[in-house]
Amino acid sequence: MTTERTLSIIKPDAVSKNHIGDIIARFEKKGLKIVAAKMVQLKQKDAEGFYAVHKERPFYKDLVSFMISGPVLIMVLEGDDAINKNRDIMGATDPKKAAPGTIRADFAKTIDENCVHGSDGVETAKTEIAFFFKPEEITQRIR
Ligand code: CMP
Repeated sequence: MTTERTLSIIKPDAVSKNHIGDIIARFEKKGLKIVAAKMVQLKQKDAEGFYAVHKERPFYKDLVSFMISGPVLIMVLEGDDAINKNRDIMGATDPKKAAPGTIRADFAKTIDENCVHGSDGVETAKTEIAFFFKPEEITQRIR
């Protein structure tokens, strides 16, 4: 197994329902470590830039509005196979298709407001982490 880093965002719906602790507990129980974290109110240009890959999709405008509708918790998670592990813990993008016991199955109602974001691959993870964190903001978990 390779130690990887992945970007995780706890979205405004989950923050507003006080599910931050429930969600982080799932990451930690599966061995993912938080190496960076910040609670932020995204500005429109941040959300537009972060989701620029979806710019041409019909849901882009609503996605940006939702992501700036309240604070989000942005984290870098580290661990063995962190990218896939995080995706397994989150469940499918559409909560209706998410496996039982996953974050989206348990806490999300719709594909538009699906509680969490996680990077979908090694290169995406690098880009997404660099979008929100300077290298010196990422800690070394040596103990
Ligand atoms: P996320 O993993 O944050 O990446 C893009 C987001 O767009 C996705 O989660 C969903 O919340 C949202 N979205 C809305 N509609 C769709 C759709 N049809 N396909 C994929 N993502 C969608």
